[in-house]
Amino acid sequence: MDISLTERPADLLLIDNWIDPACDALASVGWFCARDALSEVLVDLMRAELDELLEEGRLHRAGIGREFDFQLASDVRRDWIFWLARARPRQAAFLDAAETLRRALNRRLFLGLFEFEAHLALYPPCAFYRRHFDSFVGAANRVVSLVLYLNRDRSPGDGGELVLYAPGGGEAARIEPQAGTLVLMLSEEIEHEVLVTRAERASVAGWFRLNASRADVVDPPR
Ligand code: OGA
Ligand code: MN
Repeated sequence: MDISLTERPADLLLIDNWIDPACDALASVGWFCARDALSEVLVDLMRAELDELLEEGRLHRAGIGREFDFQLASDVRRDWIFWLARARPRQAAFLDAAETLRRALNRRLFLGLFEFEAHLALYPPCAFYRRHFDSFVGAANRVVSLVLYLNRDRSPGDGGELVLYAPGGGEAARIEPQAGTLVLMLSEEIEHEVLVTRAERASVAGWFRLNASRADVVDPPR
């Protein structure tokens, strides 16, 4: 597995294969989905990392809101997560890959994306994440959301599809969380939902954010 860490981050996301259609789609409909667009190595890497974290008991219940606004809200979401950090090599490789994507998005779409945060997520059976936006209009924190799926052996009826809603409110897409599928969406514009799972479901979810620092507070919690 660790031989893969010698690969260049750009090779892991294979950005050149899909960045142009991705930017066109983000600019027109606000979301993009690619199946088998990236290297299997990246999927294996993050799957191995999740399995290891799970074994170590490092996942914790996800909530909503940050810092003092944090709530568990099990009526809204029931996934278990781990925030990525550079201390572990596989996580650092993923964050490096996301950094190449951040620069590519800025170059083409002039979004001024400043940083990236991401977590691994595990939805046990009977979990879900109700219809939501990843950012609120005007809050200007999360601009582009990314989801990468890590589920190799999906069967019909496993549930946990990602439903995207068009800005008008109608269903725009229903995405099977199959290993190697990548989704990008505009965080303030695309409402989405994870349908109830019948089998365990693993993903990496990440957000490209603007720099929210103010003169007196560097990168305040949002
Ligand atoms: C999220 C989210 C979608 C998914 O974590 O905010 O919407 O398919 N995840 O895992
Ligand atoms: Mn979301």
